[in-house]
Amino acid sequence: MIKVLFICLGNICRSPMAEAVFQNLVSEAGLASQVEVDSAGMADWHSGETADRRTLAVLDKHAIPYDGRSRQVRPADLQRFDYVLAMDSQNMADLRRLDRNGALAGKLFRFLDFAPAGYPQDVPDPYYDGRFEYVYELVTVASRGLLDHIRREHRL
Ligand code: 4NP
Repeated sequence: MIKVLFICLGNICRSPMAEAVFQNLVSEAGLASQVEVDSAGMADWHSGETADRRTLAVLDKHAIPYDGRSRQVRPADLQRFDYVLAMDSQNMADLRRLDRNGALAGKLFRFLDFAPAGYPQDVPDPYYDGRFEYVYELVTVASRGLLDHIRREHRL
């Protein structure tokens, strides 16, 4: 099983959106039995909560299901997952700090590095400015790039 983990700050806006969009692509590609997808947050502020209603509304509009609950990332996740995708530079820095024994070596990526040229580096936090459709656009193009990358690396 290839294991993919999306990380943001609260695990209610961006990383659940990325998880849902990427899972949908994996399922459409017939790879659901080979690729496991999850998300988590750096903070525990929203642990146990559903995704933000604005994330759920955008996913619903695009007919993408999601029923995950927020959880905080654990050190064991850094061992267990094969690809860890950070939504922004702050998440990257925080993950590196959490990674005390080098488990993330070769596994930590900035998610938008998988988007085509011309896209920004970071998925902006939509919690206050409400730009959820823009986040959807970003995570969709990066999800396509990530799946292409994984398929090439694993000859799927
Ligand atoms: P996320 O967005 O990291 O994309 O889930 C946020 C969610 C909640 C908060 C900040 C960002 N918050 O401050 O509670």
